[in-house]
Amino acid sequence: MELRPLRASDFDRVLELERLLFGRGAWTYGMLAEELAGLGRWYVVATDAGEPGTGKTAAGPEPVVGYAGLWFDGDVTQVMTIGVDPAYQRRGVGRTLLQALVDRSRQLGAEAVLLEVRVDNDPALTLYERFGFERLGVRKRYYQPENKDAYTMRLDLRAEEITDSDEDVSGDGGASEHGGVSGGGADGEGAAVDDGAAEGAAGTKGDAA
Ligand SMILES: CC(C)(COP(=O)(O)OP(=O)(O)OC[C@H]1O[C@@H](n2cnc3c(N)ncnc32)[C@H](O)[C@@H]1OP(=O)(O)O)[C@@H](O)C(=O)NCCC(=O)NCCS
Repeated sequence: MELRPLRASDFDRVLELERLLFGRGAWTYGMLAEELAGLGRWYVVATDAGEPGTGKTAAGPEPVVGYAGLWFDGDVTQVMTIGVDPAYQRRGVGRTLLQALVDRSRQLGAEAVLLEVRVDNDPALTLYERFGFERLGVRKRYYQPENKDAYTMRLDLRAEEITDSDEDVSGDGGASEHGGVSGGGADGEGAAVDDGAAEGAAGTKGDAA
């Protein structure tokens, strides 16, 4: 599996996954295009590199199997969406995508990473809690038309930095239990991020279909 910036040529596949994963809450083409054009956005996709040396998979060459994105407003980042093809779930793709968002947030100098997640979305809740996200509160009926509540969650990167340096001093290298981005990662590959601007967001994703 490899990560790279989301490109316009990925739109159809990402929209297909959106419908599969989020049902009635899926972003439309217009919403996705508007979201990606927003200031401070950074989106990556995970691709299945297939058999070594061939790049071929049962689903065609290097298909997009997951995607994720954030919005940086100059202070904090917000996880806008994260999704993994059901056929590829429970293989570490979501963890790798989330780690990329957290790494990027740290590079941007964000104080924290925020997100919303549907209160009954156990897979996502488990993933976030394993990363150290803490529940801040509940937004009643955040998801419409499903009328479902959302937890707001926060990962404090300043506190994390202190922990990291403590670990370095103690000599264990500071590696988190979730590991880093594998396969070359999305860093420095040219995904545009305009710092400091806050715009209307399309609304974050927290519910599975
Ligand atoms: C949430 C989601 C992105 C996780 O992706 P994934 O690739 O399956 O996750 P990973 O394989 O990297 O799992 C990482 C950890 O998350 C937790 N986790 C993931 N799926 C889980 C599940 N179904 N049940 C319980 N824990 C789960 C586990 O702790 C897992 O580690 P483990 O496999 O070592 O036990 C995926 O389930 C998804 O796309 N869901 C639908 C869309 C969605 O709800 N997105 C979140 C919006 S807020």
